[in-house]
Amino acid sequence: MDNRAIGVFDSGLGGLTTVKELRRLLPQENLIYFGDTGRVPYGTRSRETIRQYAMQDIAFLKRHDVKLIIIACGTVSSQLTPEMSAKIGVPHSGVVLPAAQAACAATATGRVGVIGTTATVRSGAYGRAIRSINPGVHVFGNACPLFVPLVENGFIQPDNEVTAKVAELYLQPIQQAEVDTLILGCTHYPILYETINRVLGYRVTLVDAGKEVARWAQQFLSAEDLLSDGSGGTISFYVSDSPELFAETAELFLGERVSGKVHQISLELLTDR
Ligand code: DGL
Repeated sequence: MDNRAIGVFDSGLGGLTTVKELRRLLPQENLIYFGDTGRVPYGTRSRETIRQYAMQDIAFLKRHDVKLIIIACGTVSSQLTPEMSAKIGVPHSGVVLPAAQAACAATATGRVGVIGTTATVRSGAYGRAIRSINPGVHVFGNACPLFVPLVENGFIQPDNEVTAKVAELYLQPIQQAEVDTLILGCTHYPILYETINRVLGYRVTLVDAGKEVARWAQQFLSAEDLLSDGSGGTISFYVSDSPELFAETAELFLGERVSGKVHQISLELLTDR
């Protein structure tokens, strides 16, 4: 038993896809969420910058004495090196491996698509993870850089015409590749799940990377005897920019009230060490 919180972070709202699944699977766990909204997006930045931000975000969560850190960001997960992992000093996981495992289990044709940020797709991390599980699977990637700002600005309703048009454009090469499974390799993208599903005519199995890492966390905590004693269930949100827009979109997506639970931290707090 361990009643300490699980720490979850992302560049912004995307990691809420993991939070939603954690709340469903592990309602008695205490959660601390950090969204680096003052520096979002990460996906258009250099590898070095992404790695630096990631270690600062992790240091912030460690100050809260968390028992597990979930890197609920495809971009950070795809840039994580063994050296960085070794420095974290707290059990942790990114989204790449759990999502790759789910995609390999789901595909019948051996044709898997991956959409993510520019940095994620450029890194080739999902392709490597998939081939390490099943070398016979063909992977087709496409970057969708406009999805993150659309989500961060609340353009998330399935009938939003702008988002639907952008999705059509980005998903065209994926449709042409005739994949039967598509990894939503950025945790912001499942917030657009219905939009993406509609464009693909509901014919492709969508793998939600944020959800898959939550499932991994459940198995990990149970296997390591680190689940809470059942008395938890609190959630606190921290953001590095104004809490209002975050709270609005977060409530819409999570289906629960978050205002009053969102605290703003200064970027200096992240960078002062
Ligand atoms: N949710 C992040 C990811 O999974 C967003 C990336 C960004 O900040 O550009 O990649």
